[in-house]
Amino acid sequence: MGGTEQIGAAWRRASQRIGRRDARRLLEHVGACTHADLIAHPERELSAAQSVQFADLLLRCEAGEPLAYLLGSAFFKGLEFAVSPAVLIPRPDTEVLVDEALKRAQALTAPRIVDLGSGSGIIAILLARLCPSAAVTAVELSAAALECARVNARRHSVQIRFLEGDWFGPLGTERFDLIVSNPPYVADGDPHLQQNGLPFEPQDALSDGVPGGDGLACIRTLIQGARKHLLPGGWLLIEHGYDQAVEVRDLLRAAGFAETASWRDGAAIERVSGGRQPIR
Ligand SMILES: C[S@@+](CC[C@H](N)C(=O)[O-])C[C@H]1O[C@@H](n2cnc3c(N)ncnc32)[C@H](O)[C@@H]1O
Repeated sequence: MGGTEQIGAAWRRASQRIGRRDARRLLEHVGACTHADLIAHPERELSAAQSVQFADLLLRCEAGEPLAYLLGSAFFKGLEFAVSPAVLIPRPDTEVLVDEALKRAQALTAPRIVDLGSGSGIIAILLARLCPSAAVTAVELSAAALECARVNARRHSVQIRFLEGDWFGPLGTERFDLIVSNPPYVADGDPHLQQNGLPFEPQDALSDGVPGGDGLACIRTLIQGARKHLLPGGWLLIEHGYDQAVEVRDLLRAAGFAETASWRDGAAIERVSGGRQPIR
């Protein structure tokens, strides 16, 4: 691509390779312009540097890299979050976890909440924004993911205590009203890990990595550890795979949780299960 290509021509040409919508999103990103600009001023020329950047993004898009990584951002529940290849791309599946957590948080005065495996920070940040009285902690194993979450917390002007470490490890003996988590839950070797851009996402954010396992290793750890970190009446809410709800409820009951239940996502799939610390 030469340095004198007009943006409208670049859009038409790229549309034949990656589809019109993705081509538009990449051009808006590279040209720092809006959809309306593209339509109103197709004669605007890309600079040489913009052309090189656009050509690179086109190749990466054709190779299957998710648009969110190419753009460096993704939307979740109407808010824009920075994402990098160190974090899972936010999924609409996770909205039900935020909704169920929020109902419980908003019923309390100054609830103490912890998000385990915070990734880009979407859950912790949404809860902090929508329940301003909450004290929100986010724990994450990956330092690079934690940095991304910090950027997002600043972007959305919320105060969150970020802790680097392994699940409950950094929490000492602290207890919370609400423990939420969207942990890795895809079984190691699941063919889905090879599809739809998943090979570009951090594999240890998607799968527990246990060869021949059922994908529930992290969920077992969370359920086994949670009761020591919940206040009486506090809730543990966990996102899981489309076919894991029955097993997760069984694990919750076996660990002594009360009021165990599952909640469905927008596709009517049981996506989140949880239970309550008994009030003694
Ligand atoms: C499925 S991603 C969820 C990210 C984010 N909460 C979301 O919903 O988009 C799981 C996250 O758990 C983190 N994680 C994996 N093992 C962990 C561990 N042992 N302790 C803390 N975080 C862990 C991963 O790095 C990843 O960011």
